[in-house]
Amino acid sequence: MTTKQHPNGVQTRPATREDQPRVFALIEQLTGESPNSSWVEVYNSHLRRERGAVIIAENDQEILGVATVSYNLTVRFGGEYCELEELIVDESARGLNLGRILVQRTIDDARERGCAEIGLYLVPSTEGNRGFYEKLGFENIGTEMRQGLLSDES
Ligand SMILES: CC(C)(COP(=O)(O)OP(=O)(O)OC[C@H]1O[C@@H](n2cnc3c(N)ncnc32)[C@H](O)[C@@H]1OP(=O)(O)O)[C@@H](O)C(=O)NCCC(=O)NCCS
Repeated sequence: MTTKQHPNGVQTRPATREDQPRVFALIEQLTGESPNSSWVEVYNSHLRRERGAVIIAENDQEILGVATVSYNLTVRFGGEYCELEELIVDESARGLNLGRILVQRTIDDARERGCAEIGLYLVPSTEGNRGFYEKLGFENIGTEMRQGLLSDES
C-alpha cells in the first residue's frame, strides 16, 4: 500500500504512528466514544496491516478524512473479505468527493490484498448514507442481526 495522488491536491496513504491523535479525534467525532488504550493496540496492529488497515485522506495542510477496515478470514471464501468499519470526512471537507476517494481506496487495497468482497453495515444513525454507498457500487444483500457481548451492552 502506497501513497496515491487524487484531484485537487488530495492524497491517500496508510496511516502512521504520528497520525494517531488526529485519527482518534475523527473516530471520536464519528462514534462519540473516547479513545482508550485498547484503541491504541488495535491502531498499532492496523499499522502492521495484520487484520485491518487505516487509510488517511489529506491535502498539503491537514488530514481531512479517515477510513478503517478489518480483514476477516472465512471458510466460505477460502480467504479474506474486507469490512469497512469507520469512515469519516471532517465536517469542513464534506461534499468534495473525499468520502468517495477514501472508499474507493479501501476497495482497491482490499482487491490488491486478495479479499473476495467488501461490505459494511448501516445502523439507524447512518442509514442516511445508503445512497452514498450505492453510488460507490455497494448493493443491498439483506439485513444483519447482532447481539452485544460486552457486559455494559447486555
Ligand atoms: C458519509 C461521508 C463519509 C460522505 O463523504 P463526502 O466526502 O461528504 O462525500 P462525497 O463528496 O465523496 O460524495 C460522493 C457522492 O455521494 C453523494 N453523497 C454523499 N453523501 C450522500 C448521502 N448521505 N446520500 C446520498 N448520496 C450522498 C455525493 O453527492 C456524491 O455524489 P456525486 O458523485 O453524484 O456528486 C461524510 O458525509 C461523513 O463523514 N459523514 C459523517 C460520518 C458518517 O456518517 N460516516 C459513515 C458511517 S456509515
